[in-house]
Amino acid sequence: MIRTSILALTCCVAACAPAVKRDPHLSSAPLAARLAAADANSGAAVFSRCAACHTVTQGAGDRGGPALYGVVGRPVGHGSDRFNYTAALEAVGGVWTFERLDAWLTDPRHFAPGTNMMFAGLPDGMDRADVIRFLNENGSNLPLPAPPSPSNRPTR
Ligand code: HEC
Repeated sequence: MIRTSILALTCCVAACAPAVKRDPHLSSAPLAARLAAADANSGAAVFSRCAACHTVTQGAGDRGGPALYGVVGRPVGHGSDRFNYTAALEAVGGVWTFERLDAWLTDPRHFAPGTNMMFAGLPDGMDRADVIRFLNENGSNLPLPAPPSPSNRPTR
């Protein structure tokens, strides 16, 4: 009985384990640390949750949502010429930084109340970091923020 449970548990752990082993605390780490540990391939898998509404390759058009090729560094709510953005997103101003994408993907309706991106958000901080890295590698390639290092920390 105990042996069967152990066997079942071992199988589940093996089957459910993510490809990359990570410290679970990373999910709530600061964005720079998450981005440094993030993986664009895992981000491509996360992007399958976005792909019903978004494309990410160069020249691919809008779907229910605007095309996302090169979105990191692009103006918020203005990047795709043909897409009919909501006034809520258009009014945000500025460009998509890593931080803003992290906030948007945590809770789109909190970031831009009135947006019509019908997506609840990605609660796991590493899912967000992975997908942001994936987006960055598709047309933006901006330098990632420097991860916090213990030697940079103030002494007091
Ligand atoms: C059900 C459809 C849908 C899903 C799923 C979805 N989005 Fe969106 N997305 C939209 C719509 C619609 C907009 C435009 C919102 C507006 O104008 O207020 C948008 C806008 C965006 C923008 C802003 C683009 C710009 O040009 O300013 C980003 C970035 C974005 N989505 C990323 C994502 C990511 C990453 C995911 C998956 C984790 C995702 N979206 C899932 C529909 C969706």
